[in-house]
Amino acid sequence: MEKMPYRHELGLEMIRPPIERRVAEAQPVVSSDWRQALPVLTGEQVRLRELRTSDAASLFALLTTQEVARFISPPPSTVEGFEKFIAWTHRQRTAGTYACFAVTLEGFDTAIGIFQIRETEPGFGTAEWGFAIGSPYWGTGIFKEGAQLVITFAFETIGVHRLEARAAVKNGRGNGALKKLGAVQEGILRKSFLRNGEYLDQVLWSILDEDWQAKVIWGGGKIH
Ligand SMILES: CC(C)(COP(=O)(O)OP(=O)(O)OC[C@H]1O[C@@H](n2cnc3c(N)ncnc32)[C@H](O)[C@@H]1OP(=O)(O)O)[C@@H](O)C(=O)NCCC(=O)NCCS
Repeated sequence: MEKMPYRHELGLEMIRPPIERRVAEAQPVVSSDWRQALPVLTGEQVRLRELRTSDAASLFALLTTQEVARFISPPPSTVEGFEKFIAWTHRQRTAGTYACFAVTLEGFDTAIGIFQIRETEPGFGTAEWGFAIGSPYWGTGIFKEGAQLVITFAFETIGVHRLEARAAVKNGRGNGALKKLGAVQEGILRKSFLRNGEYLDQVLWSILDEDWQAKVIWGGGKIH
């Protein structure tokens, strides 16, 4: 099992140390191409792609601000730290336990945020996801479009059947974002996230593949 260099899983305050793939031969057969290299996921204004080392500078500038980092695990504190994080994401993707997409805008290759998914059981049947986007891009629709692409990827390509997210109760935007996607609030995880010396309560959210397939999510309406 690969050692996690530090708690740098931006947007994933739910992240725990990697789960050892105990019974590799028993895992369900899913598309494995994404483990070699993530596909490019293209929407109308959003393009999600594999992270590159050269994304470190823009991610450092956009994701270490107080408003972005306030309720998530502390991001790397240097550009070099982001470079190490990016290298780590590639190793975890190759191991098949994790995927991290850079958020870019159509026509511009600058990374302005990330979406992450990691397995919470061997075989990726259940997973947790998280996200962080630079604050200049909040409220623009970029989050929702990117989220739809990532959820589709999780259910259809990886084969996830239950996608969880945790957001600090105090994180109004994070919870608002999950709610408007149609995620179901399942409960409160009391004092489950240590941030700045304080244990915060978190909301546990989930989306099931069957909900998604039935097109009953995305704001209580249709997927598109
Ligand atoms: C989470 C994040 C990616 C969402 O992107 P975004 O562009 O801000 O999200 P949106 O504006 O599309 O959606 C947020 C929703 O929450 C609502 N909202 C904002 N503040 C809120 C609050 N205090 N309470 C409740 N809802 C709130 C917004 O009105 C919006 O809903 P609407 O579009 O129906 O009006 C972004 O805010 C971010 O990067 N935050 C910092 C990192 C983070 O907290 N990640 C989440 C970890 S779970």
